[in-house]
Amino acid sequence: MGNELGSSFRFVSAATNSRVIPSEARNPSYRLMATKAKFQAIKGTRDLLPPETELWNRVEQTAHEVFATFGFGEIRPPIFEPTDLFARAVGGETDIVSKEMYSFEDRDDTSVSLRPEATASVCRAYIEHNMQQLPAPVKLYYLGPMFRRERPQKGRYRQFYQIGAEILGGTDAPGIDAQVIEMVMSFFARLGLEGVQLEINSIGHNAPECRRGYVEKLKAALERVKEHLGEDSKRRIETNPLRVLDSKLESEQAVIANLPRIGDHLCDECAKHYKEVKRQLELRGVAFKENWRLVRGLDYYMRTTFEITAKGLGSQNAICGGGRYDGLVELLGGPPTKGIGFAIGQDRLVLSLQEAGKGSVALGRDVYIAWMGEKAQRAAIAVAQKLRNAGFRVELPPTEQKFGKALGQADKLGSRYALILGEDEVTSGHWTVKTLADGSQQKYTEAELFEFLSKQKQLSS
Ligand code: HAM
Repeated sequence: MGNELGSSFRFVSAATNSRVIPSEARNPSYRLMATKAKFQAIKGTRDLLPPETELWNRVEQTAHEVFATFGFGEIRPPIFEPTDLFARAVGGETDIVSKEMYSFEDRDDTSVSLRPEATASVCRAYIEHNMQQLPAPVKLYYLGPMFRRERPQKGRYRQFYQIGAEILGGTDAPGIDAQVIEMVMSFFARLGLEGVQLEINSIGHNAPECRRGYVEKLKAALERVKEHLGEDSKRRIETNPLRVLDSKLESEQAVIANLPRIGDHLCDECAKHYKEVKRQLELRGVAFKENWRLVRGLDYYMRTTFEITAKGLGSQNAICGGGRYDGLVELLGGPPTKGIGFAIGQDRLVLSLQEAGKGSVALGRDVYIAWMGEKAQRAAIAVAQKLRNAGFRVELPPTEQKFGKALGQADKLGSRYALILGEDEVTSGHWTVKTLADGSQQKYTEAELFEFLSKQKQLSS
């Protein structure tokens, strides 16, 4: 099954772990011997660290908020699925399935794969949970890691993150296509993403009078210009001629520009659908550019396809891809079901925001509590708890520090205020608050301190 598919990298099941664990690891003193070994994240994967993760959280929070306003609910499918699910949904001849999946044999000899995308999983879940019985359409979104063994570069990773949404069931009214696109665009606008460009196309449907007829013509045209094509495109004439249109190879561009165009070969229904999608986008004030070469690299698409690019990303500038996939649920064993969706590359989205200077703010503290003496520590612990419950970011040093050292530490951590608690302050009930930006100091009672900090917080937000 999945063994032939996408198994460029293969894990070995726990039953045969002895084959993957280094032989020296079985030496009882291995753990001591190996103390000098340095581990690194696997190529194409990385650690997301603070303060950058603040931005990741902000992006995710905004997705939750914006998608909810369009009536979407969150789905969390598993990270691994039967290999065959992706082979069937995405297509056995696609690069994703044939070259890039991380597949392994499980103990029971089934082949499973780390998900390279999540549309297949959402459709599997839709069928498994009989969601066709829910009021249509069913609107679902997801966030999380995907895995593709691609050549890593800026904006391209082997573990990357997507934020995606799918609408399943109901009608294929062009207003749905436009609404899905409108939702992504308003999400990007809310984040302040710059240089966003939407490209759209229709690739018709799989029938002789529509895409199938076009593909035959395309194939014939490609055969005629074969000697001007590179090895990849030559191979694709047989395996997936539409993908030749995706080529970025400079030497092929002039040839591709003269190939037959799908727009001239759509059946009446698909042409009408595409025209209405464009009108619906205009009604929503969504600007777009048509791109007849936009065919996408997954087999399940039909009719509307779209891609969105953003600034500051170099060659990997596609930040979102999506399209309509009526028929996919049925292909996976479910009832005939309309479907459309998209996935945003979160790594690229974050990169683009950072390049535009909309990145992370340093992970500072609102209050650094400088305390000296046991009585002061008691008061410091109590006030730290209250401040945190009120939502302030508080740093409470675990050991006593001289005030000079404490203030230096507060500064290094990017604290706005230092609360100075010595025996005198605790006894008098008047606490010293130092504003680190200008060095000014004020005395406050506990109640006044909370009032002051809340006011400052309101002002700065
Ligand atoms: P996709 O075009 O393969 O579509 O991926 C969507 C987005 O994921 C890309 O535009 C890109 O931003 C990001 N992406 C893909 N591969 C990588 C990578 N190796 N490193 C970083 N980012 C990457 C899909 O996955 C479809 N499931 C989208 C969809 C949902 N269509 C309908 N519903």
